Amino acid sequence: MRLIALNDLAEGGFVEMEAMIGDDAESLILYRDSAGVRAWLNICPHAGRRLDWAPGQFLKSKDGHLVCAAHGASFELVRGDCVAGPCRGDALKAVPVQVRDGEVWLA
Ligand code: FES
Repeated sequence: MRLIALNDLAEGGFVEMEAMIGDDAESLILYRDSAGVRAWLNICPHAGRRLDWAPGQFLKSKDGHLVCAAHGASFELVRGDCVAGPCRGDALKAVPVQVRDGEVWLA
């Protein structure tokens, strides 16, 4: 399944979108940096809330971590590991994606 054109995903930025994962429509967090594109379920391992404070609006800390809008858990953006906050040691659930011909696809 095609998710988004690579050009619509700014480097250092997040995009939220819905995709079918198995039989379920899930909200995904897409993130792009110089190493490529990664995606995770938009479900915080702390209390299962979405991480965005409004649809598609994510908080990023000064040290480049994704911060859950609900209770402030911080996630590094290589593996999605929680590095601070109430679910430290836990991790976002990664969703495999790949970039082909300038488009991002579910892998
Ligand atoms: S639900 Fe994300 S920090 Fe609590």
